[in-house]
Amino acid sequence: MPSAPVTVRKAVIPAAGLGTRFLPASKASPKEMLPVVDKPAIQYVVEEAARAGLDDVLLITGRSKRAVEDHFDHNWELEATLEANGDLERLAIVRESSDIATVHSVRQGQPKGLGHAVLCAAAHVGHEPFAVLLGDDLIDERDELLTTMIDVQRQRGGSVIALIEVPPETISMYGCVAVAPTDTPNVLRITDMVEKPAVDEAPSNYAIIGRYLLAPEIFDVLRKTQPGRGGEIQLTDALKVLADRDGDGGGVHGVLFRGRRYDTGDRLEYLRTVVLLASERDDLGPPFRAFLRDFVATFDAS
Ligand code: G1P
Repeated sequence: MPSAPVTVRKAVIPAAGLGTRFLPASKASPKEMLPVVDKPAIQYVVEEAARAGLDDVLLITGRSKRAVEDHFDHNWELEATLEANGDLERLAIVRESSDIATVHSVRQGQPKGLGHAVLCAAAHVGHEPFAVLLGDDLIDERDELLTTMIDVQRQRGGSVIALIEVPPETISMYGCVAVAPTDTPNVLRITDMVEKPAVDEAPSNYAIIGRYLLAPEIFDVLRKTQPGRGGEIQLTDALKVLADRDGDGGGVHGVLFRGRRYDTGDRLEYLRTVVLLASERDDLGPPFRAFLRDFVATFDAS
């Protein structure tokens, strides 16, 4: 009899990147701490994991990332001061980020790529399926993705990745897959994978986005994966091995996501995200939208 599927409980969030696109802001402070309105980008990702029931979070950090670890820890001094001042509203906000999930961290000694960052999670994860969430991709909390992926993993085993359809000329910014249909709408079987292909060599316009549910067998594959595109150990290359494998953690499915995704790793997209989310907030939205209307009118007139 096949053993019961294991519930996914752990999320791994790679946060060791140098963040060169955001220099000089990211010189001494982590890009993951850049505020999206009034919350650091990475807090949205940890909240998304916790909402899907993944309350054990492992951050893969590197140099200059102390602030990320501190953000999810208690700040007793600040809490005591707010409490003494009777500022209970801010006290709750400060406590919130340390109570979302149990957050651990491990350091990736050298920046050797996403595959290598995931491999740093091996000892913490052990032999159970786990999630990987990339901090640059924010998924709108009104749109479901992780729980759908968890369901697909439970039903089909193996690994599950998230896909979006992109304009063909932009596919070389992403990992790309070849797919075959399944009997479930928006669930595809992955038949091939290639990291950031040239536009004319891409097998499709299905792009991988930063949400993965991985079988633990990925660790053994990653240990043997040679550096690929950009001289880095690529998660996409290791997943291709699992996509080609029958049994032993093999099989990769893709969930096609049609909801709202914000790429905060790109400066222009980051600015758009901040404006969009601020405009939709109950507290800041009305005055901010009024400002935007005036601003655009004056800007166009000048
Ligand atoms: C990584 C992955 C790539 C994926 C992308 C999604 O690339 O290697 O396959 O499409 O994330 O954001 P990065 O953007 O870190 O270069």
